Amino acid sequence: MERLGSKDEVRQAVGEARREGKRVALVPTMGALHDGHLSLVEAARERSDLVVISVFVNPTQFGPGEDFEAYPRDLQRDMDLLYAEGVDIVFTPTPEVMYAPDAQVTVDPGLLGSVLEGASRPKHFAGVCTVVAKLFSIVGPDLAFFGEKDFQQLGIVKRMVLDLDLPVKVVGCPTVRECDGLAMSSRNAYLSGDEREAATVLYRALCRAEKLALGREGDARVLQEAMREVIDAESLAEVDYAIVADETTLQPLERLGAGRARALVAVRIGSTRLIDNLALEVV
Ligand code: PAJ
Repeated sequence: MERLGSKDEVRQAVGEARREGKRVALVPTMGALHDGHLSLVEAARERSDLVVISVFVNPTQFGPGEDFEAYPRDLQRDMDLLYAEGVDIVFTPTPEVMYAPDAQVTVDPGLLGSVLEGASRPKHFAGVCTVVAKLFSIVGPDLAFFGEKDFQQLGIVKRMVLDLDLPVKVVGCPTVRECDGLAMSSRNAYLSGDEREAATVLYRALCRAEKLALGREGDARVLQEAMREVIDAESLAEVDYAIVADETTLQPLERLGAGRARALVAVRIGSTRLIDNLALEVV
């Protein structure tokens, strides 16, 4: 496994592999790796010959007052985990390597980037799209792996690839959860003991919506109110949104049945903001 810090080194290493006819996969991350990240690495390993993982806490996707400084960083631990997974290249640029000091051009994520997470975090998806587009350009992967945990991010990246004709296939991977249903997230490390228990409320709310949908409740407002009720009953939790949306447009649905539906929640537990989502099967 090689750790590379510059764009040129990555371009050269991937170029060599490509000349040998290898299929290249990219897994972009911000580090503080957990089993969710590692599931993407495993999926990438299965479908490619060279796995590149980027570990970069991207400053441009954090808003003022968000947790950029506090974001957990432990590169040695990450490297050990990636070595055990058989990763080939770990790309660890600094912000100075990644961005010119006078950088100006960014990717506009469009309508999809303005709802849900985008409404609460205004420049977040422009920052995500810009860094992901740069990573695609630096690495030039055949395949890139993203988690459904960040469902809106996955949708926007797919949209970006389509709209900008980027020569990469985006692969979505299922959410990996703790035993009690909490979606794995680097931000779970911020939670105190009580907050960690309360954090199961996201998955409990989503399961309530899923159960209603399976019981043929078709009114999306009923599902949304049921999710809010579950979250409101948890004293440490404050709901940001609890929504049933079309899985492609992420626009709120009035009724289930027309197109595939997704329940999505964002909840503040103390000062930590967590997100999660679940597909709603209509039987
Ligand atoms: P990060 O939060 O580190 O996540 C990296 C990738 O891991 C994302 O595709 C995310 O959806 C996936 N992931 C996180 N938790 C997961 C879980 N429990 N199960 C499955 N997949 C999970 O998302 C980002 O970084 C950044 O926005 C990035 C795309 C790297 C751009 O900076």
